[in-house]
Amino acid sequence: MSDSSRSTATTPVVNAPGASILDDASLAWRALKAIVKRPFYAVYERRLAKRLHEWELPRHIGIIMDGNRRFARDFGRRRVLYGHSRGAEKLREVLRWCQECNIPVVTVWSFSLDNFQRNDAEVDDLLQLFEDRTRELIDSPDVHENGIRVRYIGKTDLLPESLQQAIDEVEHTTRDYDDFHLNIAMAYGGRQEITDAFRQYLVDRNEEGASLADVAEEIDDSCIERYLYTKGQPEPDLILRTSGEIRMSGFLLWQSAYSEYYFCDTYWPAFRRIDLFRALRAYSQRQRRLGR
Ligand code: IPE
Ligand code: IPE
Ligand code: MG
Repeated sequence: MSDSSRSTATTPVVNAPGASILDDASLAWRALKAIVKRPFYAVYERRLAKRLHEWELPRHIGIIMDGNRRFARDFGRRRVLYGHSRGAEKLREVLRWCQECNIPVVTVWSFSLDNFQRNDAEVDDLLQLFEDRTRELIDSPDVHENGIRVRYIGKTDLLPESLQQAIDEVEHTTRDYDDFHLNIAMAYGGRQEITDAFRQYLVDRNEEGASLADVAEEIDDSCIERYLYTKGQPEPDLILRTSGEIRMSGFLLWQSAYSEYYFCDTYWPAFRRIDLFRALRAYSQRQRRLGR
């Protein structure tokens, strides 16, 4: 089956107990449709690419990379790691497309705090995959030739020690780059981020000798913003979620107050350049009033 086929959120799980010849037939039918559509998509993609320069593009795009397990199941894989690995490969490709479009800041969500609650085998596989991919980033030509500063946001202290070391190394080796910024949200939860920011602000003010009354008097948005993981970076203009789920699940909860949202049905590993272009076109057609 072609990866470029459009998965839907309602696609039945294949090879699940009770999977039948009908499932195989539907897989084959979808593969055939994808092959027939491919040349039309190529023409459409080229047309959209030509119009890119006419659109106002986001400066910061946030991506909720969702649908890896459904993608794996759609391929008849019992181990969802297949979907996660393909999802990790897709990230590399999508970053390249974002650079082509001159989008200087990209924040991707690869693992949530809640994802720790998945079964041990999946969490172990994921953490190993993250470590492998993070180590690859350290000497990646993609990163060094394009001046990408990579930062990790989230409660990274909850990750295995060896992964934390790899993260430190990537952040260290890319700390002077400024052409593109990639934030990888790992062990990230939006509520946790706000709670941590608030707590740290209180701790610091206490150390400075401020009273609770002083803090209550002075606190405003900027006090919290100074402690967010993304401090100093622009807020996301556009947040995109794949896989057909219409929810944020806590992604950049504070920073997304005025973000534009775009949801697409494609599972993350099957995400195509044309899906990105469509999201960018939709963004350029929005009217951002920011309360005015
Ligand atoms: C996103 O895909 C990756 C992670 C959350 C780690 P999922 O694993 O959530 O896949 P689906 O959404 O269940 O298909
Ligand atoms: C959100 O996806 C987290 C990531 C994509 C990393 P989930 O699949 O974990 O979120 P829910 O459970 O659908 O809300
Ligand atoms: Mg999911």
